[in-house]
Amino acid sequence: MRHDEQVRVIKELCAHLDGDTNVDAGGLRQNPTITYTDPTQANREWNEWFRGMPQLLGLSGDLPEAGSFLTNNDYGTPILATRGEDGGFRAFVNSCRHRGTILETDSHGTKRRFTCPFHAWSYDTAGTLVGMPKAAHFGQVEMECLGLRELPAEERHGLLFVHPQPDGEIDLDWLLGEWFNDEFPTWRFDELKLLTSDEYAIKCNWKLAMDTFGETYHFNALHSNTLALNFHGNVQTYDEDGHLHRMVLCKRAIDQVRQLPEEEWDVTVAGLPVYWLFPNIILMPFEVGVFLVRAIPTPGDPGHHVSKVDFYIRPEAVESNVLGIEVPDFEALATQIARSFGEIIRDEDYAMSASQQRSADTGALDQIVFGRNEPALHHYHNTYRSMLGQELLPLLDKITADR
Ligand code: FES
Ligand SMILES: [Fe+2]
Repeated sequence: MRHDEQVRVIKELCAHLDGDTNVDAGGLRQNPTITYTDPTQANREWNEWFRGMPQLLGLSGDLPEAGSFLTNNDYGTPILATRGEDGGFRAFVNSCRHRGTILETDSHGTKRRFTCPFHAWSYDTAGTLVGMPKAAHFGQVEMECLGLRELPAEERHGLLFVHPQPDGEIDLDWLLGEWFNDEFPTWRFDELKLLTSDEYAIKCNWKLAMDTFGETYHFNALHSNTLALNFHGNVQTYDEDGHLHRMVLCKRAIDQVRQLPEEEWDVTVAGLPVYWLFPNIILMPFEVGVFLVRAIPTPGDPGHHVSKVDFYIRPEAVESNVLGIEVPDFEALATQIARSFGEIIRDEDYAMSASQQRSADTGALDQIVFGRNEPALHHYHNTYRSMLGQELLPLLDKITADR
């Protein structure tokens, strides 16, 4: 985020703190609970947004060197992504072209050759078939015809995108929009390395997991003994543009930041930026790295999803000790902080999401309410609805007895 924008955001947070105000969506909206339970909608989401759009597989640091690879099975297609000898990022269907066996079963690692466990056909990092035992016995095959099936892949601003369909298209100008395409380079995501990776299987719709990242109204109640110690609850900024939005949460450290000259203001000290990428990605950059949260639907079960919470660290943060805390092992401390943050999401936020799902499943409430101070929730759901061609949720001045 450019410095002038950081200053604008910090001033807005200070104004909310001083005036006892918060962002204002301009009204309330009611959201039908069927959006979290309907198998037909869940099917459309899966096919149109997860099978039919590019997905974020991770950050450039997940493939740190030539020969690095990772596999992914979250979006239906088994995916093998590689960093080639030329440094290029590529992705393939992770199935051997002989008889379709899953080629690479490790989640990540470094290899120059991928050898199929069935009959030992082998492929290089560019997906080319380079080895076939007893080729003369097998029969005549033009090796170049049987390379791994390539998937569209693009690396931009340190983010790795893959389309799960070989004939799919990646349009990052649309997905990231002008705004994020302009702002993301300032975060230097390409320099980060993966520090912790956690996965939580939760009995709730993936959109309820997203919803929990959509406001700080809940901080003082739900996180009274955890996040509220470091954040001012119910204070945030919110900006949107088309299908993009960014919130900045308000850290208690803002009280010190505002005493400094403006040139020294740092939005990651005063707050926590939260970027939403349609449909299921949350990116939260802060002083020493970034949290990446992905809420991955479970196909065929609208009431279940898996959240992946990854923390990537800025390598120089480890050396220069940017937090200014004298600790013998900064990386160990950062690991511990990252893990505790993930556990708060799992044990506090997602406990609420699962509880909301239990309620939605009964059908007892046909609608829930989004407040004026929860604009990201209005935006998630109206974006989802517009992408599905559903009627938008109207903005209401008040909730009245007839609703
Ligand atoms: S299925 Fe892979 S080598 Fe036969
Ligand atoms: Fe929360």
